[in-house]
Amino acid sequence: MTFRRRMRNMEPQITLIEAALFDLDGVIVDTARYHYAAWRRLAEELGFRFTEHDNERLKGVSRMQSLEILLEVGGLVGRFSAAEKERMAERKNRWYVEYISQMTPREILPGVLPFLAELRKDGMRIALGSASKNTGLILERLQLGRWFDAVVDGTMVVRTKPDPEVFITCAERLGGVPPQQCVVFEDAVAGVEAAQAAQMYSVGVGDSRLLCEADCVITGFLGVRWRDLKMKLLAVKR
Ligand code: BG6
Ligand code: MG
Repeated sequence: MTFRRRMRNMEPQITLIEAALFDLDGVIVDTARYHYAAWRRLAEELGFRFTEHDNERLKGVSRMQSLEILLEVGGLVGRFSAAEKERMAERKNRWYVEYISQMTPREILPGVLPFLAELRKDGMRIALGSASKNTGLILERLQLGRWFDAVVDGTMVVRTKPDPEVFITCAERLGGVPPQQCVVFEDAVAGVEAAQAAQMYSVGVGDSRLLCEADCVITGFLGVRWRDLKMKLLAVKR
């Protein structure tokens, strides 16, 4: 056992986790199916099929980057001007907003609310860090706003994940929590990379084969206890 490892085993309390930063889409709520329905509608208009498998590539990716991927799938790269692409993305977003405007709190993913409650009880600060420019509407529909001490979304950051900007900004808005004392919950590989680039702990939410770079992976929040997860994270070699 190395000296550092021995020290860590002897003094686990020297490392603290003060803040939990949540991605939104795919972590708190499954909006991927609404994004898919809207992108598929656009693809149909453009004359090609966009499958659910193709849609996987859009998770965690910004709206304009998603459009580029969609056009690549349709073999239409380089066929449209920037203004035309803006209009397409706007059209897709109008459909998407129509769909998510119907959402209710019942769509909050299983186990999320008890997990947030346990974090609160443990005195953790909680933030939301999402690439989505529709974050405000989704939080309102799900009646989740009160849980978050800070919200940073796609309208507030310049660089998208895997850049750490969104999570660094969350930590700042929580009153300057050191990044090393933050844990990020993410379903996208780019989001886990962003957490790592920010030097934060990362918990992958989803498929452990895909999210293998995260410090821990859970399939969802149902039955997950913060107390147990925290012990696992604190034991991670950093
Ligand atoms: C991310 C989603 O959270 O937000 C992506 O995982 C989406 O699929 C991105 O493209 C941007 O969302 P919006 O709502 O701004 O189009
Ligand atoms: Mg996500």
